Amino acid sequence: MNCKVERLLVNYKTLEEFKKFKEYGIQELSMLEDLETNIIENDSESPFYGIYYGDKLIARMSLYKRSAKSDQYFTPAQEFLELWKLEVLTDYQHRGYGKALVDYAKSIGLPIKTNPRIHSLEFWNKMGFKPVTYDMERDFGENPLIWQPEQA
Ligand code: COA
Repeated sequence: MNCKVERLLVNYKTLEEFKKFKEYGIQELSMLEDLETNIIENDSESPFYGIYYGDKLIARMSLYKRSAKSDQYFTPAQEFLELWKLEVLTDYQHRGYGKALVDYAKSIGLPIKTNPRIHSLEFWNKMGFKPVTYDMERDFGENPLIWQPEQA
């Protein structure tokens, strides 16, 4: 099994591959617009990482580094990664590709925050993600899950 995680480039081929994913939306459309209007160059680096099966993109996620200033999830506030749009194409699910992407994100060594999709809680559980401890002071308007590297 090929589980090589690659940083995806923004180009027309990548955007065409993205159409196969359910969570195709605003982020992808604005990438396309930026390409068409030359705001970004063909083959610029994107926030997306993915796994290819042959020349077909079968799994992907988006990873953003957030500064400590924007952190409302960890104590003390610190730099962290926001992981979203994790998705494995239906025919390729349950073969370890989702885990491979999450392991890649973990290997960067920063805490991670994600907003799970409704039916994927058990997967995130297995990946060691936990709900943010409830705190009356905070209203997330979401149900974030977090993961932290082992404290040395
Ligand atoms: N429920 C329970 N356990 C799940 C699961 C699910 N929906 N999806 C994966 N797992 C478990 C696997 O059994 C595996 O456990 P193991 O290590 O003990 O064998 C572990 O999580 C890793 O699984 P993996 O093969 O890496 O998962 P994946 O490649 O299928 O990726 C998702 C997981 C959720 C990202 C992927 O299935 C996906 O994109 N789904 C799209 C829609 C969705 O959210 N579906 C949820 C089911 S309706």
